[in-house]
Amino acid sequence: MSFSKVLLVATIGAVLIAFIFRDKFDPASIKGKRVIVTGASTGIGEQMAYWYCKQGARVVVTARREAVLQQVVEKCKDLGAKEAFYMPLDMGRLNDTEALVKEAEKRFGGLDFLILNHIYSNYNHLWGVDQIDRLQKIIDVNFRAYVALATYATPMLAESKGSIGVVSSVAGLIPAPLYPSYSASKFALHGFFGSLRHDFHFQQMDISITEHIIGPINTTNAVKFSKGIFKPEMFSTTAEDTAYRILEGTAMRERIVFFQDGFSRL
Ligand SMILES: *[C@@H]1O[C@H](CO)[C@@H](O)[C@H](O)[C@H]1NC(C)=O
Ligand SMILES: *[C@@H]1O[C@H](CO)[C@@H](O)[C@H](O)[C@H]1NC(C)=O
Repeated sequence: MSFSKVLLVATIGAVLIAFIFRDKFDPASIKGKRVIVTGASTGIGEQMAYWYCKQGARVVVTARREAVLQQVVEKCKDLGAKEAFYMPLDMGRLNDTEALVKEAEKRFGGLDFLILNHIYSNYNHLWGVDQIDRLQKIIDVNFRAYVALATYATPMLAESKGSIGVVSSVAGLIPAPLYPSYSASKFALHGFFGSLRHDFHFQQMDISITEHIIGPINTTNAVKFSKGIFKPEMFSTTAEDTAYRILEGTAMRERIVFFQDGFSRL
């Protein structure tokens, strides 16, 4: 065998060994961790709260609807959360984003995971003049709030060597028809958080950022807002499976996660 062939075989072998012995996610590592989940009243955010609580984490959930949050927190406690509470807030308001981080600091004394998941949805509309005034709200909720929460939480995350999970969408990578403002807000997240990762590195802050690109997921809102655009059978991936993958990818400090059953069908 020639030297180059030996090298090739050795390289393939090394890659295989690295793959077999790669770090595996241990859900028990989540126990006692301090977590913020936004958009947690329903869908993926709600399921994320349950996964963290099942592992015995300390979790604060937020969304706008207090009555629903109350039920989520009750279930969280039943599932074994070390601590769970909610704050009904509007992520369109900067002062609300600050209040969330401050309260987590007060109650937990620090933070390990910041899961940015909430959205204001305005899809399924052809672009036009009537859409302009809603653009501000979409940008404020879907983009500015993510930036603000990450910024307020940075000192705590730097101390804990914590993680930020940014829940985005295929529409943040590939412009989706009938979603221009939503798509733009998701694109913005990748620009910002990709750059912020360098900032953390320059400042020697060991904070991981995971960008989660998810496809159509079977949540009430996604199905409702995509009516007439996507076929219902595309929504076969459950919020529960998606939430687990987000939890895992964020904890494993992966840079980018693509998730959808049968992603190749997209
Ligand atoms: C943020 O400001 C709004 C409007 O002034 C107010 O209604 C809301 O209660 C404030 N949020 C917090 C958490 O104080
Ligand atoms: C989506 O979930 C609903 C129940 O929540 C179910 O009836 C439906 O079959 C699911 N869709 C797909 C494509 O699996």
